[in-house]
Amino acid sequence: TKRVAIFLSGGGSNMRALVEDMTGTAQEDHPARPCVVFSNQVEAGGIAWAKARGIPTEVVDHRPFAGDRAAFEQAISAALAPHAPDLICLAGFMRKLTGDFTDQWAGRMINIHPSLLPKYKGLHTHQRALDAGDRAHGCTVHEVTAALDDGPILGQASLQVGCEDTAETLAARVLKLEHQLYPAVLRRFAAGDRSLVQLNG
Ligand code: GAR
Repeated sequence: TKRVAIFLSGGGSNMRALVEDMTGTAQEDHPARPCVVFSNQVEAGGIAWAKARGIPTEVVDHRPFAGDRAAFEQAISAALAPHAPDLICLAGFMRKLTGDFTDQWAGRMINIHPSLLPKYKGLHTHQRALDAGDRAHGCTVHEVTAALDDGPILGQASLQVGCEDTAETLAARVLKLEHQLYPAVLRRFAAGDRSLVQLNG
């Protein structure tokens, strides 16, 4: 069984979907278990939820490191070490990681991003899809490499953009797909299966 660390910065709805899949009623055949939930935000809603579920949590506030990413990442590694994770799932973790950190976790760290990569790396993905007049939009799970939102794609879920959609409605619709896609990809990835997962919503 792989031990999974989940990183978040906010509400953590993707973390909840991953944890529920690993610990819920259908978990017997799941190849992974959550070993720690990590955040750079003390106030992250996902931290309180994980604590309430009895899942170990760690917080390293990035602000005192004032842009010294290497020192911030050393602190992250020190916080993770006692939990001995095999894999890391980034789930709404909003800090960029250096190549040193991504190299250390190469092939063992995945991320979910709210666009159909390679389109719309970075922020404001829903507005950018609308501005481009895209008919299809969605989310992607990929392996994390040094370049932002750029590693090998493991899964995508797509939906049709409606003429009434706004950035807000798209964000909500895509988030629902994320909650289906990320657990499906983690199940395969933790079992060493990197074949592409494709969902339509
Ligand atoms: C999700 O939509 C995730 O794809 C996105 O942040 C949201 C987090 O929601 N991630 C990124 O934009 C990464 N750059 P959650 O905290 O409810 O899971």
